[in-house]
Amino acid sequence: MAEPEVGLTAKSADFPGEILDGLDRDIRRRGLGVVRLDEPLSNDSFLKLGSSLGTAIPETAPAVQPYVEDGVLLNLRADAGITRDVSLQPFASNPLSLHSEGSGRSLADQPRYIVLMCVEPGDNSASTVLVPMAEVASDTSDEDLRLLRATRYADAPGVPPVVRSQGDHTVFSFRDFQQDPLRWICEADGATQHAVNGALGRLLARMYGARGTSGVLWSRGLLVVIDNTRFFHGRMAGLPRAAARTRHLKRLRIR
Ligand SMILES: [Fe+2]
Repeated sequence: MAEPEVGLTAKSADFPGEILDGLDRDIRRRGLGVVRLDEPLSNDSFLKLGSSLGTAIPETAPAVQPYVEDGVLLNLRADAGITRDVSLQPFASNPLSLHSEGSGRSLADQPRYIVLMCVEPGDNSASTVLVPMAEVASDTSDEDLRLLRATRYADAPGVPPVVRSQGDHTVFSFRDFQQDPLRWICEADGATQHAVNGALGRLLARMYGARGTSGVLWSRGLLVVIDNTRFFHGRMAGLPRAAARTRHLKRLRIR
């Protein structure tokens, strides 16, 4: 995978300098902002950067509380090793399947942006994978799009359909649940179980084969803003903890 293009190189001591304007420009243009900073921003500046994009979503899950600062800043330290505990996935070295953030929540509860900043890259074995939704959409047939626009997760009140339009963009709200079943409902005319399962299967295949997919190779001070309505994201497998320096990213979720 190619690395995403760096839009701006800057000194963190100069914050905000050109950083906020540069990010804003790149996020509008391609749904992704990448800034190479000489050093990570202070928490204070990082939070200010977040508020320039919107409102930070509080981290309320009990399992993550030891990793939270200021209520909204999550320290993603890959110190959980390989684990099956889903609540510890962000801190694990397991691969993370492709997803849009919060796909099981109502639109109001889904973040618009995910802001990640690298403090310590660790052994750099686990790239963050970015898949442009526009490429996935352009490879999807009109009939599959019609079905998926009328398909949503069952048992998740208020969730948006798997595919929707937002401005000029085709937006997906979807996660690859891998071995876990996905229960869905579809309200499209003439939708059969076979047809919808087929459309979902083809969507998964396109997500993993999309043109324009990039992999972030983290380095200290690298800051990436992902528009959750324009990119799926995921993570490659890392090395088990014993064999690796511990990766540390800071994260904000912004709505
Ligand atoms: Fe995520």
